[in-house]
Amino acid sequence: MSLGCVSQATTRAQEIPRSNWPTADAMCAKYDDVRNSAVEPCSGGFRRVRHFWNTITLPIEVAGPAGTISTASFTIPRGTNLSGALQLYLQIHNLKYDAEASVEVNNSGWLPISTANVTLLGNAAAFGGIGGGFHTLQMTMNLPPGTVVPGNNTITFTFNGTDGVVSGYRVLAFNLQSGGTNLVPSYQFVKDDPNTWRSPLTSASDIAEGQTLWQGASLTVPTSAGTQPIQAHCSDCHSIDGRDLKYFNYSNYSIQARAMFHGLSAQQGDQIASFIRSLNVPNPGRPWNPPYQPGPSLDSQPVENWAAGAGLSAVLDNDRDMLTYLAPNGSTAGWAATAYLNAREMPVELQLPDWNSWLPQVHPMDGFGAFFTSSAFNTDLSLIRTALQSSTNPTVAYNAALGDFHNWFVAGSQFATGPELPLPTTWTQAQREAYYSVGLWVQVKMWELNQMYGLEGIPQVPFGAKADSRGWLGSTAFDASPNMQHVAAGPGLGNGTATERDYLSLAWYQVQLILNDGQGQQSDHEPVDYGYVGGFIKNLFVIDAPNLPGISLQFEYLIKALQEFTQTGTSPESPTGWHPIDTSPAVLVDFNWAPLWWGTSAATEASLTTAYTQAWFNQASVYSAAQYYQGGWAKATDNPAALFYSTTFGGQVWYMLPRLRSIGVPAPLTTQIAAWVATIWPNGNWALDESATCTSLLQCTSGY
Ligand code: HEC
Repeated sequence: MSLGCVSQATTRAQEIPRSNWPTADAMCAKYDDVRNSAVEPCSGGFRRVRHFWNTITLPIEVAGPAGTISTASFTIPRGTNLSGALQLYLQIHNLKYDAEASVEVNNSGWLPISTANVTLLGNAAAFGGIGGGFHTLQMTMNLPPGTVVPGNNTITFTFNGTDGVVSGYRVLAFNLQSGGTNLVPSYQFVKDDPNTWRSPLTSASDIAEGQTLWQGASLTVPTSAGTQPIQAHCSDCHSIDGRDLKYFNYSNYSIQARAMFHGLSAQQGDQIASFIRSLNVPNPGRPWNPPYQPGPSLDSQPVENWAAGAGLSAVLDNDRDMLTYLAPNGSTAGWAATAYLNAREMPVELQLPDWNSWLPQVHPMDGFGAFFTSSAFNTDLSLIRTALQSSTNPTVAYNAALGDFHNWFVAGSQFATGPELPLPTTWTQAQREAYYSVGLWVQVKMWELNQMYGLEGIPQVPFGAKADSRGWLGSTAFDASPNMQHVAAGPGLGNGTATERDYLSLAWYQVQLILNDGQGQQSDHEPVDYGYVGGFIKNLFVIDAPNLPGISLQFEYLIKALQEFTQTGTSPESPTGWHPIDTSPAVLVDFNWAPLWWGTSAATEASLTTAYTQAWFNQASVYSAAQYYQGGWAKATDNPAALFYSTTFGGQVWYMLPRLRSIGVPAPLTTQIAAWVATIWPNGNWALDESATCTSLLQCTSGY
């Protein structure tokens, strides 16, 4: 490996901050192996030892051509017990396939950071492992005894080459562990601070050239068939003005590496990086912090920070932890149909897609050629931009653009599902990437428009008085899911597994819930298809990751559906009005969904189910039988026992009542519901349903 490949120095000698100095004696005992220590005489015969240390700046980025390496030195204090089993702990962003990265500790030789060699921590393995749902992974790797020594050690990471999409990864944290204890003291690690970054080039002409390249340089991509030219420019796949790279604080180094990935020179990469650094736009994000990741108090921060999300630390390790937020101090008062559950601040166990996963792998102009470029789907975007530029007053501009937004959304759904663009019968990797990228491209452009024109802070423009404090127009995030893009699982969609497709679908639904949960306009399945999401919660938590509970997430969607349909003020008189099915508690006792409750005590299951059933009934019973008839939800002549149990209002009620009782929902509530539904379906044998008993959720004496 030539030295020319060494990417950057990550280690530099630095004095230990005074605040971190140990007491003098402990310091002498513990730190006498420190390199570069300087002994200074003091008065009174004492000596003051000034300690220097090799600090390691995190993240350690490794990006560029195959064989690129980054090295760091760390020190293990003398006297450290190294007798326990030795492991390397790693936290890595953008590790997406097995052959991507290797690590070497001292003379260990290269160790592939691959599924076979590592133990993934937390839920990462359950959600698809390397190349699966999580794009930042924590893991440990066994090292042979004797790999590290007290004193100075070296760790080296290498990028083994692209899969056609990835240009590198970043090590957010590492440590050596003996018997589970960290060997490298935390003060050796410092966090890189993007606000200290400078332009690699400072002349106005280099910055201007960087902008020109961003918008117009001819690019290539590496493929298995060699380097291929593409039509798209940086500004087509990213935000038009480059602000996304600034907003999420991609380093100069990663920008240069990515420019070279696309066939530009190192100098041109530096010019682009200098252009990005020169942008006067907010920069609260990091590449590994998923955009809009929900977390407590996020709404209290300025809206400019919203897209940076609440950070990886807001991702829950366990679905059950979400209950403390859903039901603070055990109170379910916030579940009321007339309350508002804030999905922007409700932490979840999903890592939402990071910015790299928002970016389209193939621009539609390369994926679909003139079919895209000559479509309204392409040209409407410029109309939106023109309208948004028509006034410096964001409210006026947003109003002016609403019609164009609407047209663009319609053109988008026609593009994706229109007869001109049939779906492949057997999918190739390139086709998966191209089709999936269509929805991603819309998401990136929506982000761009929201940021550039300050739209996400003024949702009252499209939604009026019922708008939330922040939000997006449309259902573009929902539509970005591979499910909505009709892309089958397989290579080109993460690591190709069914788990990955389910995870991505659910993750985009969650982004939708955060960006536009209904805003008082929820109708039928727009903007969130509340009835649909449950199927993906089931896919992920019952089929793909059957050992993880998922019931809290299911509750979030139920409560949101109940509240959003209620907030509209429309009654079930309309077939697109208040929705007794999407809001129904039946899913909580449906045997297909039962594994979501995994590990929950029977008492908790009963009390949570009771709380939601009560909240639902309070609102459902506001409406009259006549209103349900008029909206087509029910017919007076129907026998509910003969209706399908999971997709009809009457069938659901018939199915759920005995089951609710059987899991412990108290009789006064179920009796009240039975009395009420008897007014809607007078032909139902409700006495039978009320006396039915269940041997399991699978079998009750009421049938089904
Ligand atoms: C075809 C669409 C497309 C074009 C054109 C494009 N990018 Fe990207 N870019 C992406 C995708 C997709 C990723 C995410 C890669 C990954 O997942 O590792 C990305 C990632 C990046 C990253 C982050 C990589 C990292 O370190 O994680 C940078 C920086 C970047 N692009 C800069 C550029 C620059 C500069 C240009 C123009 C020279 C450009 N891109 C052109 C789609 C594009």
